[in-house]
Amino acid sequence: MAELLIGRTLAFAGDPFVEGPGAARIADRGGVLVEHGRIAATGDSAVLRAARPDATVSDHGDRLISAGFVDCHVHYPQTAIVAAWGRRLIDWLNLHTFPEEMRLADPAYAAAIADRYLDLVLAQGTTTVCTYATVHPHSAEAILAAAEARGMRIVAGKTCMDRNAPAGLRDTPARAHDETAALIARWHGRGRLGVAVTPRFAPTSSPEQLEALGALWAAHPDCPMQTHLAEQTDECAWVAQLFPQARDYLDVYERVGLIGPGAIYGHAVHLTGRERARLAEAGAAVAHCPTSNTFIGSGLFDMGLAPAVRVGLATDIGAGSSFSMLRTMAAAYEVAQLRGQALHPACLWWLATQGSARALRLDDRIGNIAPGMEADIVVIDLASTPAIAQAAARAEDLWGALFPTIMMGDDRAVAAVHVAGRRVAP
Ligand code: GUN
Ligand code: ZN
Repeated sequence: MAELLIGRTLAFAGDPFVEGPGAARIADRGGVLVEHGRIAATGDSAVLRAARPDATVSDHGDRLISAGFVDCHVHYPQTAIVAAWGRRLIDWLNLHTFPEEMRLADPAYAAAIADRYLDLVLAQGTTTVCTYATVHPHSAEAILAAAEARGMRIVAGKTCMDRNAPAGLRDTPARAHDETAALIARWHGRGRLGVAVTPRFAPTSSPEQLEALGALWAAHPDCPMQTHLAEQTDECAWVAQLFPQARDYLDVYERVGLIGPGAIYGHAVHLTGRERARLAEAGAAVAHCPTSNTFIGSGLFDMGLAPAVRVGLATDIGAGSSFSMLRTMAAAYEVAQLRGQALHPACLWWLATQGSARALRLDDRIGNIAPGMEADIVVIDLASTPAIAQAAARAEDLWGALFPTIMMGDDRAVAAVHVAGRRVAP
């Protein structure tokens, strides 16, 4: 059965970091025809209505119709420890994160957190995530199964660690390889699901484990590979100590083949010139995690990496302080301002949709409103609170009307969420 969504449609015909805001396509009374889980057609709503009188009409008035948000770096097992007070990265991992990740040794707890996490993000308009699980393969299976039950396109990976972590969270080079390989065989490409090769970060993997995962990724180059890179300065110093032969942090990964077009590096705040050039040359992607980078004091990401490097936007729950991609866009704006750059709303919205989808090499399927794309759609109320409504009322164009929601909006702005065409929230 076909459904015609009518409202103010926002799509992208290009990259606003290259082409400016003109890369966006806005239609005030636009239509999005959804059929069999995909976008069958877009265009003027009256024309689509006449062409398809059989379609059920959902008229959203002047609300915004956009691709659902894509969060390209998150740790779903950290859902319950979001907003933990007072620590920086390494202490935060040891005091808050690892004890909570140990609790996911219980498959029932892992399944409960997976359900809770996906319900939380769907309510925020996020329809795709790329998430770390814990070291336990069943925790990756829990989130993949929970996504499958909801029809969501997600990517997940078992987090691999064989040192500098509690015994209950350590695997070995062979187990990391074999358990990830088994997850790939069972889940990668099943329906809308993908499996990422996931070494947590250089300090928690031995050189042998990184090598084993480099070899595994070489055998499955269409899988994403996710890890962390240059998040905090003391972490960078620790990596230099642990890998004295490496030229820099990225070189630790490069030496074992953990670089390439499918790589997504979280944070990348403290990069050398060589690392920046190498990321661009390799076609690798970086996940900008602005609420996390401020919350645990990591630093101010340089948005000047785009467009040479593919950049996506991410919450990084639970070091990130919000499940909302609206709040994450606002943080990206604030961080860029602190570096002397005012990011246009078109750039912020693109990062949260197409940019993140492109970072995951999924931009041919999700992250945009266009014929043939999967129908993951969010409808946004641009007047969701009195404070937002009065600011938006003064706007002269869509960007002026949208920016107060980017800066002040939350799940109250999320009027409808569709996953593969099916309405799932609120
Ligand atoms: N570096 C290694 N593991 C993590 C994690 O779980 N969160 C963040 N923010 N950084 C990390
Ligand atoms: Zn992370």
